[in-house]
Amino acid sequence: MNYLRNTWYMAAWADELVPGKGLARTLLDEPVFLYREQGGAVHALFDRCPHRFAPLSRGVVEGAEVVCAYHGLGFDGTGACVRNPHGPVVRALDVRSYPVVDAHKAIWIWMGDTQLADPSRITDLSFLSSVAETAFNNGYVNGKGHYQLFVDNILDLSHTDYLHPDTLGGGSISRTRAKVTEREDGVIGIHWHVFDDVPTPIFAKFMAAETARVDSWSEVDWSAPGVMKLVSGAVSTGQPRLGALNVDNVHILTPETAGTTHYFFASTRNFGVDDTELNELIRVTRARIFATEDEPMIAAQQERIGDADFWSLRPALLRTDEGAVKVRRRMDALIAAERQDSA
Ligand code: FES
Ligand SMILES: [Fe+2]
Repeated sequence: MNYLRNTWYMAAWADELVPGKGLARTLLDEPVFLYREQGGAVHALFDRCPHRFAPLSRGVVEGAEVVCAYHGLGFDGTGACVRNPHGPVVRALDVRSYPVVDAHKAIWIWMGDTQLADPSRITDLSFLSSVAETAFNNGYVNGKGHYQLFVDNILDLSHTDYLHPDTLGGGSISRTRAKVTEREDGVIGIHWHVFDDVPTPIFAKFMAAETARVDSWSEVDWSAPGVMKLVSGAVSTGQPRLGALNVDNVHILTPETAGTTHYFFASTRNFGVDDTELNELIRVTRARIFATEDEPMIAAQQERIGDADFWSLRPALLRTDEGAVKVRRRMDALIAAERQDSA
């Protein structure tokens, strides 16, 4: 499978990595062992011991090291072998390591040329850390389907009117044409601005009962490979955006294999920020929607596509596909450029 390699992929939520413990996760078809030292530093190693190929994830984290559970070789966070109970420590015993960064409540991994791993290229998601903990919630779904199908799902939010009519939908997105822009920094924006329409059922719940008509917006900013910020809000028709209810989200997709995807999502809001019950309700609702409505649809879509190349099936294109098509073309171009560079 052709993946973009020289880019930062989200590997885990930061809170998935407990100090002194690790996490085995397949990323871009490669088995990776992510672990956090007691002191907090995070590392990522190829999850296969160079000796007899036991998964390092079956071993134990001791200080900054991982000790293989089979014959006791020990490795530090750079992948260097630092312990050999059976003889000398030599470089032939090293294991591959990956650059990782702990930022914006997430762990980012670089699966390409390590020389190019520049942390300043990680998409700025600092808004996730700038709200109270009780106004932040996150989740994860392991999805069946090519990661680009999960990306398409967010880039065409008209699906919410049909797949989530009682919560995120309501019809107004389908009645509105998205504005698609390509920015110089590589971001592709797909922004729906809805005027004087009904609020989505979920926003209606949080607004004053007399708010029958609203101006609302859903602004998706995609950056490679599959990092999307989704800013959404609603305000009583004609009122300034300043007083709006805002729910700002991320949807981040990382390929696990060609046919499976790590789907990370998080949500923040500017109302009821101290309300832990509300926070839990939003967390549970979103996780339920993504796991029981989006994921099964995408899995079923993938089943119909099978192993065929997406474009070879000549998908019928609608007006709502503009953003998703631009993003697919951009990814194809980035991957092609990378392959040309390495050739
Ligand atoms: S397989 Fe890891 S030490 Fe032997
Ligand atoms: Fe959805």
